[in-house]
Amino acid sequence: MLEVLVLVSGGGTNLQAIIDAVETGMVTNTRITGVISNNKNAYALERAEKHGIAHRCISPKEFASREEFNEKFLEAVDVWKPDLIVLAGFLVVIPPAMIEKYRNRIINIHPSLIPSFCGTGFYGLKVHEAALSRGVKVVGATVHFVDEGTDTGPIILQKAVDVEPQDTPEVLQKRVMEQAEWKILPKAIDLIANGKVSVQDGKTVIHL
Ligand code: GAR
Repeated sequence: MLEVLVLVSGGGTNLQAIIDAVETGMVTNTRITGVISNNKNAYALERAEKHGIAHRCISPKEFASREEFNEKFLEAVDVWKPDLIVLAGFLVVIPPAMIEKYRNRIINIHPSLIPSFCGTGFYGLKVHEAALSRGVKVVGATVHFVDEGTDTGPIILQKAVDVEPQDTPEVLQKRVMEQAEWKILPKAIDLIANGKVSVQDGKTVIHL
């Protein structure tokens, strides 16, 4: 059984998609054991509470330095002894020591087709604003393993979504979530939970 710890910062719709997929059996061999938020007001924490999932908040704001936060954050994660850490809209930079310790055991959902519209400064609505201002006709989402770079780790799954003529960043964000993120994030967890993902030479191999 894959024990999953989900890290969140906001509304938690991706967390909800994972919870629903586990509860309905679309994701197998998986248990969500905990949720950590850096934001005590994140609605994601209420979603965890409603589903009886243990949760806590830990924020860089509570600590005098980033180094101190990084140390306590890693300790907080280690308490769960997770098999997999899922970044589901988590907007804090993952400490290098955590990446090292959990190599190829941290995944992230990013709301674009990497390598487009990713890297420092591209998160949430900003990604969709940039896509619309560039005038691309196809966008999408990516699930990838987390390495030391920003959105540079091995790609696990991607799904494309069409841009429509009247799209606003908000409308496009919602469509990318509905048609891509909420599908490929649970799917990636299911693949990992069932031993179907390996990493070779910085790329994933999916064993179907
Ligand atoms: C999602 O669109 C996710 O892809 C994005 O934040 C949103 C969180 O929504 N993540 C990033 O931009 C990471 N770079 P949610 O809290 O409703 O799941």
